[in-house]
Amino acid sequence: GVTRHYTFNIKYHNVTRLCHTRSIISVNGQFPGPRLVAREGDRVIVKVVNHVSNNITIHWHGVRQLTSGWADGPAYITQCPIQTGLSYTYNFTITGQRGTLLWHAHISWLRSSVYGPIIILPRRNESYPFGKPHNEIPIIFGEWFNVDPEAIISQALQTGGGPNVSDAYTINGLPGPLYNCSSKDTYKLKVKPGKTYLLRLINAALNDELFFSIANHTLTVVEGDAIYVKPFDTDKLLIAPGQTTNVLLKTKPYFPNATFFMQARAYFTGMGAFDNSTTAGILEYKHPSNLSISSSKLPVYKPTLPPTNATSFVANFTRKFRSLASAQYPANVPQKVDRKFFFTLGLGSNPCPKNTTCQGPNGTKFAASVNNVSFVLPSTAILQAYFFGQNNGVYTTDFPVNPPNPFNYTGTPPNNTNVSNGTRAVVLPFNTSVELVMQDTSILGAESHPLHLHGFNFFVVGFGFGNYDPNEDPKNFNLVDPMERNTAGVPAGGWLAIRFFADNPGVWFMHCHLDVHTSWGLRMVWIVLDGPQPNQKLSPPPSDLPKC
Ligand code: C2O
Repeated sequence: GVTRHYTFNIKYHNVTRLCHTRSIISVNGQFPGPRLVAREGDRVIVKVVNHVSNNITIHWHGVRQLTSGWADGPAYITQCPIQTGLSYTYNFTITGQRGTLLWHAHISWLRSSVYGPIIILPRRNESYPFGKPHNEIPIIFGEWFNVDPEAIISQALQTGGGPNVSDAYTINGLPGPLYNCSSKDTYKLKVKPGKTYLLRLINAALNDELFFSIANHTLTVVEGDAIYVKPFDTDKLLIAPGQTTNVLLKTKPYFPNATFFMQARAYFTGMGAFDNSTTAGILEYKHPSNLSISSSKLPVYKPTLPPTNATSFVANFTRKFRSLASAQYPANVPQKVDRKFFFTLGLGSNPCPKNTTCQGPNGTKFAASVNNVSFVLPSTAILQAYFFGQNNGVYTTDFPVNPPNPFNYTGTPPNNTNVSNGTRAVVLPFNTSVELVMQDTSILGAESHPLHLHGFNFFVVGFGFGNYDPNEDPKNFNLVDPMERNTAGVPAGGWLAIRFFADNPGVWFMHCHLDVHTSWGLRMVWIVLDGPQPNQKLSPPPSDLPKC
């Protein structure tokens, strides 16, 4: 591989959407941010220079970071934030991955404007298993807020209530014609007839899983989270924040006398508010030179998206993802398990602190938890404390591996909704094979949680609805060609079972990729110890590692 150098200047940039102008935090004055392109095997060096008054970190979401955990990026987990006027150089190698991922700010809610695509091309002598597309196009979904999202989340955390929702979804930063004051801000995908395009779909939205469809066109899913899958056709799809999906779009063999909308809107199963609007872009066929019809005169076709709470569509769609599990792209699924974990994911509440009026349920303060622990970020980086043996007062290693009370949800909320705050980790010896079952507790209504694990890909060996049954459900696990990913939905009112080898030494964050749930505490860390071989040890920290 080669070495690819990037500089990310974090700076203010004025952006107008929906007739509101905001000074957003951007990378290099671009919104969405620049594409990071590399081949499998390349080294990537990104110097991040902070010119704004907020602290910042950047996470290379889905990049495995084998032994390079210092470059992972979550604030207070693997590094202290980069302070105003300072810089930090992320240095990592892309190993065993090819496809689409994303990079994004990983501190507070700065991801709302600091995000962009990671495109990992196959090695020079390798080709795509699905053939060479005519062109490749990143399509990145986001959310637009008319007011500063940092103010929204800090106010919500102070009042113990829920934050305001976004004002629009965006396609490549543009809300599109279905919003007021927005038709000029519409993404246009211009295509030729009779060609195959590779669309690299990325969901960088803060708080919403999205349905997506292009009118009158079938999409062939070929990859998810930078892992090739057995191709399947669909006319609509779901993509959770943090997930990436590569699809082939075959254009019509002729010049159609129409324009086609592509649309995205939320899949939402929870209680309370969400952004119920729809973003649209336009698929436009380039006119053959002898045709002079203006595309704005053509009829417009719009896709039909599933209803907002279409959980059964989501389950059926999710089941279609299968790894190739071929000789060239094997699925190395742990067949035996060393350690089993059962985590309940709860949206619940904490007692309201004294002298505060809380706006959560019944005057309580919103909290989210894993096994009733609402994770608190420390004031220094856990990886640093771990590496230098200074964990005292930073974190403890007693994260509960089972819920405090046996979990059996019968439709009445269990009475253990109160959570305790803590910074607690699970420690795993190198190469432990892990099985983790995560159960949505539905305490405040069933809600889907797109869980993201840093540092690893995991295999989705099973999922289902209702209570997980440790005796029956494992009989149906797929240990042959399960989907391998870094972000997977724990179904609303159901469970998700994953397996992975803890083959990457370091401190690895796991959290719901809906930022509101992360902020409320639905997060925890795994600490994986060094292995015996030199290439199984965490590298020493770079000299410019930020200080807190
Ligand atoms: Cu894309 Cu910890 O996140």
